[in-house]
Amino acid sequence: MTTMIDAAQLSHAELEAVLRWYAAMGVDQPLVDAPRNRFAEFEQEVARRAAQPAPQPVADAPRRSPVSPLRPPPAPLPPARPAAISAEQAVLKAQETAAAAATLDELRAGREAFDGGGLKRTASKLVFADGNPAARIMLVGEAPGGDEDREGRPFVGRAGRLLDRMLASIGLDREQVYIANVVPWRPPGNRTPTPQEMAVCEPFIRRQIELVNPDHLVCLGAASAAALLGVKEGITRARGRAYEYEIGKGEGARRIHACAMLHPAYLIRQPLHKKLAWADLRTLKKALAPG
Ligand code: URA
Repeated sequence: MTTMIDAAQLSHAELEAVLRWYAAMGVDQPLVDAPRNRFAEFEQEVARRAAQPAPQPVADAPRRSPVSPLRPPPAPLPPARPAAISAEQAVLKAQETAAAAATLDELRAGREAFDGGGLKRTASKLVFADGNPAARIMLVGEAPGGDEDREGRPFVGRAGRLLDRMLASIGLDREQVYIANVVPWRPPGNRTPTPQEMAVCEPFIRRQIELVNPDHLVCLGAASAAALLGVKEGITRARGRAYEYEIGKGEGARRIHACAMLHPAYLIRQPLHKKLAWADLRTLKKALAPG
């Protein structure tokens, strides 16, 4: 027997506890307006099949299988799911798919179709990029949150509004920068992406940087700095230093200026550190100045 929580029977405190538990489990977005009791649907389907009249044996018809004529025939099997690929195979496939994209549109389509990381199944929208693909500055964050997942654009929530103000403080807006994330699908409940999820996404963000071909790369937060700049220490140590990022490989490779900055979401939690971010923004502004 299955039971569903009847919200009308719960006190305010109990309802709040249930919602908190859902949020902690990563269930923090409504997908449909009314709840569906899939357990009850399953039981109804079982009852419906059991109530179906048993097929009558046809006289003289050859028996094709040892299935009892008193039972309904078994339901057809669902189509087989493609076999899961290993972590290494997923990274190789990501590298091939990313390298095959000649334009940002192709990369976006390849990203949308790529199923090598599980996050796509729980996110609602691909959060590919925002801003100007011809910009000289590219900013890369970690992964989208709930607001970004709903809108399909990076940095549109609270952290995004702070990022807009940070950019404005040095005279920039979204038309002068290009913004993306290492991971373009929202991890459930805004959890930190796993190393495997980061590894599968890395070839795509590297190709995205190559196709945008900026002069300055800004990694927002420790995860982005670790993935793209190989930074091993914490972000408060890594910030304030100049890095180089190599775009492309071989003869056509180009080294660009890169830096790591405190993530705006971190600055919301630690407002005293805004002065460090302000120092980094001024350094970036100087680096952008002609000559
Ligand atoms: N944090 C990120 O790293 N990226 C977003 O797009 C939003 C919040």
